[in-house]
Order: sequence, then structure tokens, then C-alpha cells
Amino acid sequence: MSHTLSVGVVGAGRVGAVLAAGLRAAGHPVVAAAGESDASRRRAAELLPGVPLRKPSDVSRAADLLLLTVPDDMLPNVVRVLADSGAIREGQVVAHTSGRHGLAVLAPAAAVGARVIALHPAMTFTGTAVDIDRLRGCVFGLTAGEGERELAAGLVADLGGTANWVPEEMRTLYHAGLAHGANHLVTLVSEAMGLLAAAGVDDPAGTLRPLLDAALDNALAHGDAALTGPIVRGDVKTVAAHLKDISANAPDTLPSYVAMAWATLDRSVTDGRLLPIQGQKIATVLSAYGERRVLPSRVEHTGSMERTERSEQA
Ligand SMILES: NC(=O)c1ccc[n+]([C@@H]2O[C@H](COP(=O)([O-])OP(=O)(O)OC[C@H]3O[C@@H](n4cnc5c(N)ncnc54)[C@H](OP(=O)(O)O)[C@@H]3O)[C@@H](O)[C@H]2O)c1
Repeated sequence: MSHTLSVGVVGAGRVGAVLAAGLRAAGHPVVAAAGESDASRRRAAELLPGVPLRKPSDVSRAADLLLLTVPDDMLPNVVRVLADSGAIREGQVVAHTSGRHGLAVLAPAAAVGARVIALHPAMTFTGTAVDIDRLRGCVFGLTAGEGERELAAGLVADLGGTANWVPEEMRTLYHAGLAHGANHLVTLVSEAMGLLAAAGVDDPAGTLRPLLDAALDNALAHGDAALTGPIVRGDVKTVAAHLKDISANAPDTLPSYVAMAWATLDRSVTDGRLLPIQGQKIATVLSAYGERRVLPSRVEHTGSMERTERSEQA
């Protein structure tokens, strides 16, 4: 375990309450938490029993390690107010859990001599006890100066996580990658369940689960090569039929279906799994539902090209 630190958390939201509970379980005493809403109070009572709720400046003054777990857009103001009021001190460790922000947002704390760390768990939190087990094996996007790297890595190890170092200037892109994958996946899956429900399927989630589990496993292991389905097969008529029926039955889902179909088409043509001539036919169909786009040029990819050429001649 890393050197024992007393922990204060501002605020006791989904992430704050869970990380503080994880640090407590690792032997770091949690001395105070801040949070005013009923939800934060309830989370603190459930996940941090016995920890007093205080105002943010008192939480900061009481702690060796101040966890700032407020919404991203609140973070600059919270840091500035705490630093300006003298609630952050020299040598104190100040960490935030935002994916987008790096160390720049903690500049007011660094200016008074605090040791600053950006410590982002690449995980989705419910703010309940089930999250605590998920910290084990969770990857943390870390940004810290040379003097804080060992400390940051030690805290992640205490939480049972894995450290992933992210350069300051790459934080936003790193976070965009996670959000695109995890957040948009939720939207995509919800829309897919909606289409199945509209088709009269009794159990959309149960129907999708084995398929999506396999698709996710394959995509994580093989990337674009995992793709199956009408676009990469060049089944133009199937794509056209999808668009027609989605328009008629679930028009709200049409824009994202078309956007994802374009992205899927571009990637299939770019890496050579779909011949441009086949891709162009699908592009023409998609163009009827949105702006016409130019397809990217193909990169040589011998195996699947040969197969596509054969089917083209057949
Ligand atoms: N949720 C996730 O899955 C997730 C995953 C990884 C990282 N993160 C990051 O973790 C951070 C916290 O996210 P979250 O989802 O835990 O947020 P959240 O559940 O909305 O909790 C935010 C907490 O901050 C407090 N707060 C809000 N404004 C404040 C202010 N001006 N001053 C002091 N306290 C304030 C809230 O208190 P009240 O309840 O009293 O308003 C609440 O306790 C964000 O940077 C987010 O990007 C989130």
C-alpha cells in the first residue's frame, strides 16, 4: 500500500463516494465529504458510513488527499475558490477524476504548492456498492508531474486499478475516445432495442445480448476486421430495405443509423474489404437519406478484395 493519507472528498457524487470507499478499504481514512443534495447525502451514508459531511473548504482543510469529484464544468471554479480561500495548502495532494481535464485546471492548487494529479477511472459509475468491485481491474487515465507519478500510481494500485499515463495535451482526445465508445454505445444499444420492440420482439435485451457480447468481444480483439453484416458484404438491397422500414417505423433512429452506416462504409472501403464499386452503390442509397458524400480511396487488402472481386464477377 502507498503511504497512508487522510482523504477528503468534494463531492460525494457517483465517483467521489465510490473512490473514497475504495481508498478507505485500502487503509486510507476518509475524514470528511461534501455534498448537499439528497442523492449525495444518501450515497455518503451508504458508502462512507460515519464520515461527516462538511462544507468543501472544511473538507479540504481536514485532508492530506483532496479528491475533487465535481462535474467537469464546475471543476475550474471549485479549485479556484478553494485555493483562493486558503483551504488548499502546500504539500497537500489534490486529485480530480475528470477525463477531459489534465493538470492545467489544477493550476491554482499547484500555485500554492499542492501536489496535483489527474486521476480518471475509465469506468461508468452508478454511485452504489456494485461499483467498488469494478475498481479492481479498472484502468485509470493518469496525468501527473515527475514528482507525483509514483504517488499517483500507488493510489491506483491501492484501488486495485491499472495506470495508463495520458499526456496533458491528449486528455481531451483520450476522453473523447472513451465517451464515443461507452456513451454512444448506450445510445446505439437503446436504439437497437427500440427497433426490436417495434418489430414485436418480446425480449429485445435478451435477443441482443449474445449477439452484442460476441460483437463487442470480437471488435475489441480484432477492430474493423470483426465487422460482419450487409455493408461489408455489399448487400445494397438489404441496406436500402433497412432505411425504408426505419423511416416508416422508427424515424427518430434514422439519423444515427445513416451516420453509422456512412462510418461503417468508409471504413470497409478504406481497408479494402469492400470494393469501391460496391461501396458506391451503398453510398448512393445512403445519399437519398442525407448529404451525398465522397467515399475514401481504398487501401490494398488482398484477402477480402479477392473475395469481393469474385462475388462481383459472379
Ligand atoms: N459518472 C461516471 O461514470 C464518471 C466516470 C469517470 C469519471 N467521472 C468524472 O468524475 C467527476 C464527477 O462525476 P460524477 O458522475 O460523480 O458527478 P455527480 O454524480 O453529478 O456528482 C457530483 C458531485 O459534485 C458535487 N458538486 C456539484 N457542484 C459542486 C460545486 N460547485 N461545489 C462543490 N460540489 C459540487 C455534487 O454535490 P450535490 O449532489 O450536492 O450537488 C455531487 O456530490 C466528473 O469530473 C466526471 O467527469 C465520472
